[in-house]
Amino acid sequence: MFKHAQLESVKTWLSDPAYDALPLHARIQRAIRQLILDGVLTAGKPLPASRGLAVSLGVSRDTVESAYGQLHAEGFIERRVGSGSIVSARVGRSPRRGTRPVSRMPQMPVQLSRRGAAMVRGDGVGESLMPRPFAPGVPETRNFPLALWERLQRQVLKEYGTKALAHGHPQGVESLRRAIADYVNLERGARATPERVLVLTSSQQAMTLCATVLLDSGDRVFIEDPVYLGARKAFSAAGLECIPVPLDADGMRIEHLYDTTLSAKAVFLTPSHQFPTGATLALDRRLAAIEWARRHHAWIIEDDYDSEFHYAGKPTACVQGLDEHDRTIYIGTFTKSLFPGLRIGYMILPPQLVVPMTVARTLLDGHSASIPQLTLARFIDGGHFGAHVRAMRSVYAARRDVLARLVRNHLSDFVEARVPVGGLQMPCILTCGLPEKEVIESARLAGVDLLGLTALHASSNHRAGFLMGFAAYTADEMKAAVEDLAIVFRSLKS
Ligand SMILES: Cc1ncc(COP(=O)(O)O)c(C=O)c1O
Repeated sequence: MFKHAQLESVKTWLSDPAYDALPLHARIQRAIRQLILDGVLTAGKPLPASRGLAVSLGVSRDTVESAYGQLHAEGFIERRVGSGSIVSARVGRSPRRGTRPVSRMPQMPVQLSRRGAAMVRGDGVGESLMPRPFAPGVPETRNFPLALWERLQRQVLKEYGTKALAHGHPQGVESLRRAIADYVNLERGARATPERVLVLTSSQQAMTLCATVLLDSGDRVFIEDPVYLGARKAFSAAGLECIPVPLDADGMRIEHLYDTTLSAKAVFLTPSHQFPTGATLALDRRLAAIEWARRHHAWIIEDDYDSEFHYAGKPTACVQGLDEHDRTIYIGTFTKSLFPGLRIGYMILPPQLVVPMTVARTLLDGHSASIPQLTLARFIDGGHFGAHVRAMRSVYAARRDVLARLVRNHLSDFVEARVPVGGLQMPCILTCGLPEKEVIESARLAGVDLLGLTALHASSNHRAGFLMGFAAYTADEMKAAVEDLAIVFRSLKS
């Protein structure tokens, strides 16, 4: 009772490899449902007897019966004893019903909200999944003590059993909050207590929470110029107006916050190693920023994303620890110090923000996954975090030196390296007059990833160049990539 074309359409579903995971009866059910939704089979239309359709399709009668049973249960067909199955009258009211198959309708451009458009403008902020030299910001994970991590995770599962599978507290597990507070107090000179720690999935989530919980759309935030794109995008997506503030070798020029006639509700800083320049914010400027925030009742958003990796003595203590007025929100992450896939970051909050931020995070994702949090707490408490960071710090310091030497030996005709005192990447300034975009695109085609500096700047008044990540690549990998880059430069110059 099916026309030839209708039968062929059902057969297409049966042979389409895209539906390989579906059992036969589900494919037949989906095929007939589609014919009904497309208006090819209209209300009251009889369906073939299951025996006949089974023969035409080369399947068992039970398979067709099962498909019809599901169509009946979902209300697409009516089944009457003795008179077979017909398309249900209810589909007559289906808003999708029409004579033209819906799948062939022209695609309308998607209409995003203004906020949605701001979020997707440019590109996402995710790191590359398979980093190649010299993708910046990526830590070395190939030598991570996986067996140890696995043992600790097994201990967690043994101790907590199925309790570890339930929902967790939105603020984070207590043992991890305690471990984080102890760590930032000792290593970063912070003023933290477990009660002030909010465990999140990332710094990125922390920035979004700051932007949306503390500021209203249209409010201003001072940002570094150049700035970490993830921060600028989180603020712009929340409708904030980003006011770029210039930098020098001592970090953001805080005097601009006092000089400008524009008032802002917050300032975003990367004080340990400014991203991307690597500059450390000088002490007098830290104190001036705190005083500015106190006077204006504004917030300091301190992104301390990679302070563990400082290669010349200890890193400067964080701003949060100097701020007696509780105007600073400290953001930390394990993305660089352990591994990006862990997805654990945190904020150290002023006491008055703990409840609002914790409640707000329940709207985003409820809480961070409990098993990794419990495992991480053990990793820190057992001294393994400290040991890992110390080991990686010397690996990264050596790699930074290798890269600086390679650039000097192979690329000195084209770029000038700005060797950083810390962090996972080295800025290089183009000195050969080649356009930054062209260099980056040609390098990419040659298998070398560079992050251009121009996109990170708000003003056009800056020197072109790129960032070279060095932490995730061995000396041999970097040597090969720098040699490839030298070939790229020579061919662009010739
Ligand atoms: C300045 C800065 N903050 C934060 C992050 C990312 O941290 P998370 O993965 O926790 O969002 C990065 C990553 O490159 C970064 O450069």
